[in-house]
Parts: sequence; C-alpha cells; structure tokens
Amino acid sequence: MSELKGNSVIISGVGSFTPPKVLSNNDLSKIVETTDEWIRSRTGIRERRIADDDMTTSDMAAQAGKEAIQNAGLETDDIGLIIVATVTPDMPFPNTACFVQKKLGMGKIPAFDIEAACSGFIYAMDVARGLMAVNGTKHALVIGAEKLSSITNWEDRTTCVLFGDGAGAVVISKSDKEDVGILNILTGADGSETDILMVPGGGSASPSTVETIERSMHKIQMQGNQVFKHAVRVMCQSASDVLEKSGLTADDVDIVVPHQANNRIIEALAQRLNVGLDRFKINLDRYGNTSAASIPIALDEAYRNGRIRPGDNILMVAFGGGLTWASAVIRWQ
Ligand SMILES: CC(C)(COP(=O)(O)OP(=O)(O)OC[C@H]1O[C@@H](n2cnc3c(N)ncnc32)[C@H](O)[C@@H]1OP(=O)(O)O)[C@@H](O)C(=O)NCCC(=O)NCCS
Repeated sequence: MSELKGNSVIISGVGSFTPPKVLSNNDLSKIVETTDEWIRSRTGIRERRIADDDMTTSDMAAQAGKEAIQNAGLETDDIGLIIVATVTPDMPFPNTACFVQKKLGMGKIPAFDIEAACSGFIYAMDVARGLMAVNGTKHALVIGAEKLSSITNWEDRTTCVLFGDGAGAVVISKSDKEDVGILNILTGADGSETDILMVPGGGSASPSTVETIERSMHKIQMQGNQVFKHAVRVMCQSASDVLEKSGLTADDVDIVVPHQANNRIIEALAQRLNVGLDRFKINLDRYGNTSAASIPIALDEAYRNGRIRPGDNILMVAFGGGLTWASAVIRWQ
C-alpha cells in the first residue's frame, strides 16, 4: 500500500445491512392499537426491518463493515481501528466492536463502542479521525448498528411504531487529496434533558431485578413531544453551525443525510435551513428510526443509487437521547 500524506480524511468505503424480515404498519396494528394512517401521517414510516432472535447487533455490524471494507478496495488487515456506535450492544461487555473484529477475522487492533444514541455514528467518525491524527492509523472502520427491537416496548404504541433494526458502516481513510473528505464535525450534548428519552433499567442506577423487568425499565421510554421540539431546534442549530464553520451556505449543500427519525422533523429542518426536500436523502419510510445506524444506512443507499458524486458537499445531522447532537460536512472525493 502506498504511503499516504494524510492531508484529508475521506470516506473511502460504504456498506450496510438490514435484516430481511419486514414489519409493516398493518402488522403493528395487530399488536397495539394503532393504524397505518396514524403512523404514516405522524412519522412517515411505512415499515421497518426486524432482526431474528438469534441475530445480534454485531452480526449486522459485521455484515455492513465487511461490505464497507470491500467497497473501499481494502482487506480487513488494512484496517487499524474499529469503532461501533450503538445503544444495543450484544451485551454490557465485551464491547460490540470486539465481536465484529472476531467475526471478520481482523487484526489485533483497537476496538471499542461509543454510545451517543442516535448521534453516535457522527460522534464515532469524529473520535476515529481524532485518533487517526495522533496515532498514524490510515484506515478506520466506523459502524452504526442497532437491534432496537430488543429494547422496544411492544406494548407501548407511542414508541414501538418508530424503531427498526440495521447497520451501516464506512471506512475512513487518510488521503493525500486536497480539499476533500471530512471538512468539519461538530458534536454537543445537553445532560439536563436525560429523562425525556431513555432506557432507565439494567445499568448501575437500576440493576436488573424482577421488578425492573416487570416495570419494562429495560425498554425505551420517551416523551415524544418534548423530544420532537428539541430535535428540530438542535438539528437546525448544529447544521447551521457546521455549514458556517465550513464556509458554506445552504446553497452549497448537494445532499443532506439526516438522522431518520420522523418526516415532520426532517421537513421542519428543510424549511428552516432553506434546503429543498429534494436534496434530502430520506429512507425512514422503509426502515423507521434505526438510531446510530440510520445515517450510514441512508448514506450507503444514496451512494449506491448514484446520488453522491465527486465534489458533492454532504451535510449530515443527528440528534438523540442524552440529549446529544452532531453534524458533519463531507466533500466527496
Ligand atoms: C412520537 C410522535 C410521533 C408522536 O406524535 P405526536 O403528534 O407528538 O402525538 P402525541 O404524542 O401528541 O399523541 C397524540 C395522540 O395520538 C395517540 N397516539 C400515540 N401513538 C399512537 C399510535 N401509534 N397510534 C395511534 N395513536 C397514537 C396518543 O395517545 C395521543 O392520544 P390522545 O390525544 O388521546 O392523548 C412524535 O412526538 C415524535 O415523532 N417525536 C419525536 C420522537 C423521536 O424522534 N424519537 C427518537 C429520537 S432519536
């Protein structure tokens, strides 16, 4: 492999994996009191993918990661770092990235997880490029992967209609090309809002007991209205800030790849940023909200559909539990 100067950090490969099993809105209406019309009009979601019981987050992550490495034209041995962003690790420890390393037969390289909820994938890219800058790593595998069906309360119609399973991955690589790749990433959090979106049980605050399980404390709990309001505000702010930091305006953006949580949030973002919806990549109708996996799955789909061309400015923006938020501007090489 040629020696790289490392002026830029580019996305050199993309991949994704979504489980084949489809759960439609009509299927859900047989489980909880809801309708296809309600879910579509309030969220834009038509169906989501659900992993089989024996499929883990790391199984999906490994599939997406393998595809991204192949797409980059690399071998697993070329990768020097693995980070998995997830809120649904296979188990509290070992971390999911270690399982991915084993499943893909990768070298004895650093492997760890990041938990920043739905913002996790952009956080993970930021951490990866930071480590690459200081330790000489040339290629990092960054994955967002979730089995949200494992923490979904299937008796709560206000949340169970929103989420799905899947994984998306990128390889980020040092490149000697000028003026391309990750131009800027911004991340932030507001810990005063921890209680509006959480899985309260199973951690050190409430270790698992019969009572925590009976009270469904190991499942997602959310105040949807509150999350909605914050989401629109922080996504707009973060997106505007990262564009400004990159010296770009909304007109310069070729494609926005937002976190896929709700069509109405995306529409509000489009309106406030003054970027037409035709420049947004939206696939939540088919996958629902896959948390840390949503942006890399959408990016992979946009790339494979030919929507991303050399020189394009890509804006990514996410928000999630924490609250956390993150945005990125990437110029495709
Ligand atoms: C969850 C969300 C779709 C709910 O939409 P909403 O317009 O805010 O709806 P509300 O919560 O105000 O509920 C309105 C009514 O619909 C009902 N309802 C909630 N879920 C329902 C469902 N699946 N089917 C039918 N009715 C439902 C509520 O019970 C309520 O009934 P009521 O008026 O009789 O009390 C919306 O708040 C949202 O998307 N929030 C952001 C969530 C998110 O993105 N989370 C992930 C962050 S990464």
